[in-house]
Amino acid sequence: MIKRIAVLTTGGDAPGMNAAIRAVVRCAINNKLEVMGVFRGWWGLINEELKLLDHHSVSGIINLGGTILKTARCPEFQTVEGQNRAYQTLKKNSIDGLVIIGGGGSFRAAHEFYKKYKVPCIGIPASIDNDINGIDVTIGSDTAINTALAAIDNIRDTATSMERIFVVEVMGRESGYIALQVALAGGCEDAIIPERRFDLESICHDIVEGNLRGKISWIIVVAEGAGSAFDIAKKITEMTGLESRPVVLGHIQRGGRPSAFSRTQAATLGEAAVECLLQGESDKAVTIKDGKIILIDLEFAITKKKLDVDSWYNLIRVLT
Ligand code: F6P
Repeated sequence: MIKRIAVLTTGGDAPGMNAAIRAVVRCAINNKLEVMGVFRGWWGLINEELKLLDHHSVSGIINLGGTILKTARCPEFQTVEGQNRAYQTLKKNSIDGLVIIGGGGSFRAAHEFYKKYKVPCIGIPASIDNDINGIDVTIGSDTAINTALAAIDNIRDTATSMERIFVVEVMGRESGYIALQVALAGGCEDAIIPERRFDLESICHDIVEGNLRGKISWIIVVAEGAGSAFDIAKKITEMTGLESRPVVLGHIQRGGRPSAFSRTQAATLGEAAVECLLQGESDKAVTIKDGKIILIDLEFAITKKKLDVDSWYNLIRVLT
């Protein structure tokens, strides 16, 4: 029987993680469970940095980006020694189940840990990249897209006024999700993403043709994993003779006030994760599909997500 659980946030932070922690803690307490908060993700389990949380511990955090539990990337958790130490911490603190709030890398680690030690684990998908398989939208990605979009709207003002080309780099090492969403929502002219080959010559050809027709400004969004805004802007200037400027949005996209959507997702999935542990589920992630909460195997969640990038890309181009 589960009496005490632990919650941790790992990998890159995402807006809405705090709302998820709050939901996990309060739903667990409502179900007469004790909850421990683990600091800095897996690192905190390895180094026994955790503390008991109460209702009040999570007051006033629903509107905050980042994570009050802190987060980290933890290569040590990939070692047998690191995993053993984490397991000892769980035993020593009588923890019967874990809620892991994080992205693909976090789920991979949770799945490996479960396979070895059989500690019940439930994942709550939270990552700005939206790169977890079987999950429509991860907590935080809606906020990150809106943050990037606000920047693009500002850039559009100056791009139009000064008749320039802008290349805007957004986050996404392996995923073009943010780039495509932002390009579509921002009415951008092109998007360069890791999942699709791009041809700079043809982009430049379009720019020059457009310029001859009187099209005065362009915004091209590039996902960080597909290229550098600085390099691409430089090449565009060289190839077209037109003034191009790079902008790198960077970590601005990871922070900030979570959107209503990210918060309600976090509340719903936080509750679901606690319910799942109580029902004896394990090695699963909770998500919302067609308005319903569903469970997916972590093993499936960590396989490569295939986005329908071509449809989005074609629409961006059609609407230009
Ligand atoms: O959390 C996902 C992400 O923001 C990616 O989009 C990005 O490539 C990466 O994290 C950056 O990680 P870090 O902040 O550790 O450099």
